[in-house]
Amino acid sequence: MPNRPFICIGEGSGIMKLLSLERTFSISLFICFIWCLGLSYFTLSNEQEAARFGHQNSWTKKQVEASGAEASSKPLWGRYEEEVNVLRSKSKMKDYLIIRLNSDKLQLEQEVVGLMERLSKKAEKQVKSGPLMHNYEREFKALKIQMEAEENKTEKMEETIKGLLSNKLQLEQEVAHLKELLVQKAEEHTNKDKINEDKDCPLPPMDGYPECQGKLKWMKEGWTSDPCYSINGVNGSLCSILIYLSEIETWCPRLPGRVIPTASSQRTEAGQAVIRENLQGLSSKLANRIQYKWINQRIFSMEDIWVKAGRSLSAKHDLKGRKAKQILVHPGAVTDEIGIARLAFNGGPLGELVQWSDLVSTLHILGHHLHLSASITDLKIFLGGLKSGCPSMPTLEPNLIYTDILGLQQMQKALPNIWSKYQCKIRILDSFGTEPDFNHVSWAKGHNLSSPYGGLNLIPLQLYTMFPHTPDNTFLGFVVQPHWSDEENKKLESIKRKNQALVYGKRASFWKGKTAYLDTIHKYLDLHGTVDNGALIPSYVTNHGIVKGAEVHALLRESKVFVGLSFPFEGPAPLEALANGCVFLNPRLNPPQSRLNSEFFKEKPNIREVTSQHPYAEAIGEPYVWMVDMDNSTDVERAVKAIINQTIEPYIPYEFTCEGMLQRVNILIEKQDFCNSTTSWPPLSTLQVVTAEVGASCKDTCQKQGLICEPAFFPHLNSAQSLANYGINCQTTEHSGGYLVLPAYDNNSKRCVFQSDPLLFSCVRSHLSWTRVCPCRDYIKDQIALCKACL
Ligand SMILES: *[C@@H]1O[C@H](CO)[C@@H](O)[C@H](O)[C@H]1NC(C)=O
Ligand SMILES: *[C@@H]1O[C@H](CO)[C@@H](O)[C@H](O)[C@H]1NC(C)=O
Ligand SMILES: *[C@@H]1O[C@H](CO)[C@@H](O)[C@H](O)[C@H]1NC(C)=O
Ligand SMILES: *[C@@H]1O[C@H](CO)[C@@H](O)[C@H](O)[C@H]1NC(C)=O
Ligand SMILES: *[C@@H]1O[C@H](CO)[C@@H](O)[C@H](O)[C@H]1NC(C)=O
Ligand SMILES: *[C@@H]1O[C@H](CO)[C@@H](O)[C@H](O)[C@H]1NC(C)=O
Ligand SMILES: *[C@@H]1O[C@H](CO)[C@@H](O)[C@H](O)[C@H]1NC(C)=O
Repeated sequence: MPNRPFICIGEGSGIMKLLSLERTFSISLFICFIWCLGLSYFTLSNEQEAARFGHQNSWTKKQVEASGAEASSKPLWGRYEEEVNVLRSKSKMKDYLIIRLNSDKLQLEQEVVGLMERLSKKAEKQVKSGPLMHNYEREFKALKIQMEAEENKTEKMEETIKGLLSNKLQLEQEVAHLKELLVQKAEEHTNKDKINEDKDCPLPPMDGYPECQGKLKWMKEGWTSDPCYSINGVNGSLCSILIYLSEIETWCPRLPGRVIPTASSQRTEAGQAVIRENLQGLSSKLANRIQYKWINQRIFSMEDIWVKAGRSLSAKHDLKGRKAKQILVHPGAVTDEIGIARLAFNGGPLGELVQWSDLVSTLHILGHHLHLSASITDLKIFLGGLKSGCPSMPTLEPNLIYTDILGLQQMQKALPNIWSKYQCKIRILDSFGTEPDFNHVSWAKGHNLSSPYGGLNLIPLQLYTMFPHTPDNTFLGFVVQPHWSDEENKKLESIKRKNQALVYGKRASFWKGKTAYLDTIHKYLDLHGTVDNGALIPSYVTNHGIVKGAEVHALLRESKVFVGLSFPFEGPAPLEALANGCVFLNPRLNPPQSRLNSEFFKEKPNIREVTSQHPYAEAIGEPYVWMVDMDNSTDVERAVKAIINQTIEPYIPYEFTCEGMLQRVNILIEKQDFCNSTTSWPPLSTLQVVTAEVGASCKDTCQKQGLICEPAFFPHLNSAQSLANYGINCQTTEHSGGYLVLPAYDNNSKRCVFQSDPLLFSCVRSHLSWTRVCPCRDYIKDQIALCKACL
C-alpha cells in the first residue's frame, strides 16, 4: 500500500516508517514539483492565473499551448526579453532548489540516525529476549535494509546536488522534458481520472501535488483502517477525504473557496503592532510555566526600564503601521526535555537565559503576539498536529519562530514531515555563532568539520548570536543594564569608589595559576572576590561568596577594576562592569584560542580565533577596557597604574541597552525575510564593494575600511557583469561550489570564479592566491547590526 497517507506523528506509534519509503518517490518528484510551480509562473498571464483557482481541471495543457502560441506571435525582441526574465527566474529557482534539496537531505540524514537508534534498541532487546523472539530478528534485518536504503538515498541526493551545481544545461533539458510531462499529466487528469467525482465536491487542479491522486484512491478504501481518520472528520465521502488530505496532511490542494475553520486563520489577521506600555499579558503567559521561572524573574525585575525604553524608541522613530506578527518562542534549553533552566538557579549557564529573557521582553514591548512553548507537546499542539494522539490542524500559523539548536532538533524530530514548511521563518539563538562551512551539512562532513551544533543547513543569517562574532550570522545581543528601581539606583550612585578591584571568577578553579598576576594587582589595590570556595584563593582576597545580581553591582560600584582571569570567555559580566563605571582588565590570549587548540571551543561550529577573554570589550578599548598580558608583571603594572590614575563614566554601548535592542530587533522583524526571494535587505544602496588583498577575508577587509561585511549582498556580486561595474574585468569565468571565498578573482590569469552554492557564501575565509571581492556596508556606531540607511 505505497500510497497510504502517513498518520499518527505522535511518538510511540512508530509504525510509519512507510513514510520514509514514500520519501524516495516524493524526492524524485520534488524537482518536478519546483519546476512545475515555476513553469506555471512563467506561462500564466494574470487572467490565466485566475482561471487556475477556478474549477478547471485541465488548465495546464491549455496554458502550456496557449503560452507557446503567444510567445511565437510576439516580436523577436520581446521574446528575448522574456527569455532573459525566464533565465533569471530560473537561476533563482535553482538557489531555492539547492536549499530545499539540502534540507531534504538533512532530514534523510536524521532519519538515518533515528533508524540507527531504533536498530540499536532492537539489538539490545534481542539480546535480552534471547533466540525465542525470532520476530525481532526479521525486524532487525528489515530495519537494516531500510537504513541502507536511507543511506543510499542520502548519497544519491548528494550526487543530485553536485549534478545540479555543475551543469546548468542539463537543467534546461530537464525543463523541456518536464514541460512534456506537464502536458502528459494534464492529459492524465482529464482522460484517466478514475476517481468518481462528487457533484458537491469538484476536485481542484492537482498540479504540484503528484501524490494526491494515489492518496485519494487509497483513502477511499482504507479510511477505516485507522481511527485517526474519522477523528479528523473523514466519513468516506470524497469531500471529507480531500479535506483531510489537504488540511490535516499536505498531499492535496485545498478545496477552492474553503474557509479554514480554525483559530489560526483568525489569528493571522492580528492587526497592528502597537508599542506596549506594560508587561501585562506577558505575565499570565509566563506565570504558569515553571520552565520560564528564571526568565520570568529577569523580565519583571526590568519592567520599568523596558516600558521606558519602548516609549523612548517610539518618540524617536515612527513605529506605526507595523503588522503584529504571530511569533512562536521555543527555547529548547528550557524545555522539560532538556531542563537547564532549573540549573540556572544553581549557577548553570545563564547567558542563554539572559538572552531569551531580553528577546521575550523585546517582542512583547514591540507589540507582537507571543506564543511560548516549553515542551515538545506544546510544539506539537502549536504546529501540527496532535489531538488525542492523532495528527490535527496546527493551532498557530506563525510568522516567525525563535528557537535554539536543541529546539530545532526537537522540532525536526517531533514534526519530521512538516518542520521544513517553517524553515524560512526560523531564527536560531546560537551564542557563539556558526560559520557557513560548518552550517553546510555535506561540506562539513566532507571537510572534517564535525560539531554537534553545526550542519543545520539554514541560511547563516538565520543564526542569531550573543555578540557580533561573525558577520555571516545576525547579531541579536542582549541587554546590559543595571536593573532596579530609581530609588536603589540613587543608593548605588552614592557609593564611593575605593581603591578596590573585584575579580571575575565564581569558581575557585578559574583562579588556579593566576596568583602571580593577582599579587601584582594586589600591590596597588584591595582585592575582592565572589567565589564558591574561599579556601582555595589567596588569603588577601576578601571573599563575599556567591552573591545575587544587585550585590555584584554594588561591589562593582565601589571598585575601580573588574579583573579578568582569562576565563570564562565572552560573558556578559565585563559589560556590566563598564555599566557600573568599573574598568575591565582584559587578559590577552596568547596564542589565540579556537576549536583547534581549546577544549572550550572544540565543539563549536566555527574556527574563530579568540584573542582575549572578551573580544567585544577588546574592541571598546581604553579608557574602559585595558588589555593585559597576565604573565608579564611589567605589563600588568603599567595597566593598573594607568587605571588608578583615571576615572570613567558608566558606559553601555547602545546596542546593549533595552532601547538599542528594541530598535535592532524591530528592524530585523520588519525587514529580514528569508521566505521571499524577491525582497532584499539591507538596501542595496548601502553596498560598498572592496577588493581584498590576496589572502585576506572579507570580514577583515571591510573592517579595515571602517565597514562590515554584509553577506546578504554576495548574490549581487556573483556575476561577471556586476564585477565589471567595479572595474574587475574577467577574461574567463567559472562557477564552483567548492570554495568559501567566492566571488573571487585571480589577478594573474584574469579568471573570475563565482559561487554556485548560495549556502557557501562566507565573510570569514580567505584564499592564498585569489583576491576576494567583498560586499561591505556601513553601520551605526554602537548598533553594528544596522546600516545607517536601515533606520
Ligand atoms: C545500497 O547500495 C549498495 C551499493 O551501491 C547496494 O549493494 C545495496 O543493495 C543498496 N541497498 C538498498 C537497500 O538499496
Ligand atoms: C461527510 O463529510 C462531508 C464533509 O465534511 C460532509 O459534507 C458530508 O455531509 C458528510 N456525509 C455524511 C454522510 O455525514
Ligand atoms: C578528522 O578529525 C579527526 C578527529 O578530529 C582526526 O582524527 C582525523 O585525522 C581528521 N581527518 C582528516 C582527513 O583531517
Ligand atoms: C612586558 O610588558 C612590557 C610593557 O608592556 C613590555 O615592554 C615588555 O616587552 C613585555 N615583556 C615581555 C617578555 O613580553
Ligand atoms: C596621573 O595623571 C596626571 C595628570 O592626569 C599625571 O600628571 C600623572 O603623571 C599621572 N600619574 C601616573 C602615575 O600616571
Ligand atoms: C515578496 O516581496 C515582494 C516585494 O516586496 C512582494 O510584492 C510580494 O508580495 C512578496 N511575496 C510574498 C509571498 O510575500
Ligand atoms: C593586478 O595586478 C596588477 C599588476 O600585477 C596590479 O597593478 C593590480 O592592482 C592588480 N589588481 C588587483 C585587483 O589586485
